[in-house]
Amino acid sequence: MEQKLRDILKTNRSYINNGKLPTYIPELSKADKNALGIYISDLNGEEYGVGDYEYKFTIQSISKVVTLLLALEDRGPEELFQFVGMEPTGDSFNSMMKLEIVSPSKPFNPMINAGAIAVTSLIKGSPEEKFQRIVDLFQKITNNPNLQINENVYLSEKKTGDRNRAMAYFMRDVGVIKGDVEKNLDVYFKQCSLEVTCKDIARIGRFLANDGMLPETGEIVIQSKHAKIAKTFMVTCGMYNASGEFAIEVGIPAKSGVGGGIMALVPGKMGIGVVGPALDDKGNSSAGVKVLRDIADLYNLSIF
Ligand code: DON
Repeated sequence: MEQKLRDILKTNRSYINNGKLPTYIPELSKADKNALGIYISDLNGEEYGVGDYEYKFTIQSISKVVTLLLALEDRGPEELFQFVGMEPTGDSFNSMMKLEIVSPSKPFNPMINAGAIAVTSLIKGSPEEKFQRIVDLFQKITNNPNLQINENVYLSEKKTGDRNRAMAYFMRDVGVIKGDVEKNLDVYFKQCSLEVTCKDIARIGRFLANDGMLPETGEIVIQSKHAKIAKTFMVTCGMYNASGEFAIEVGIPAKSGVGGGIMALVPGKMGIGVVGPALDDKGNSSAGVKVLRDIADLYNLSIF
């Protein structure tokens, strides 16, 4: 298995050259462009890591799946979907274009930045409590008690996050977000700055593949109906305006982040984490997408 995964890394390494490191969050441009790693964590307890699977990167938009789970547990789908929609946008992840065109105004889905900021604002507790609850959930489902934020990335995001800030203030104006916008944004910037490895995101994938139950203990952490909603959004919106192409070419639920990670899963079978910090023009890891395509091909993983 490891040898096959190593071959996949080798075959797809050249796709790194099709990507670029993001610069809109300056600290992310310091990542190692050539890092490439895979980690697979299956429901039988087998784990495989190859390449730079210990490389640390910030989780970024992959965190949106976990905050969605927490907000669903806190509010239930009926309340949550009053504030955020269920439809893909066909636009980039940080587009604000569609915010104003539906009435009553709400972000199209929880995977784009606007939707994720709204979702984070729905998590219960003071800003400090919210963030602690997010970290606790992450630590639990990754089984990594050392998970913490990368302070430099967090500060860099906070300093340069005016587009997110603009969307958040707009959303308060139309009643999607309540309370202190800056404090809500601060929780969002922190959740995006959590530092992880492929192993951590593979474990998140495995947890979702197991419908919200911790495979080791059998503990139900998230109701399966909420895990199902998150997995569905991963298919329809997880790779933003490349979600359709990814569904055809790879065919498994996945969520990307601008830190270069992609968290993917095969329902009932396994979680897969890949990292490759160079991004394509949709904001997805350029080599990571190809690596997942080859893994899915080799093991016939498409859910379709
Ligand atoms: O808010 C942002 O723009 C980043 N913190 C997260 C965006 C992201 O990861 C999009 N993913 N491909």
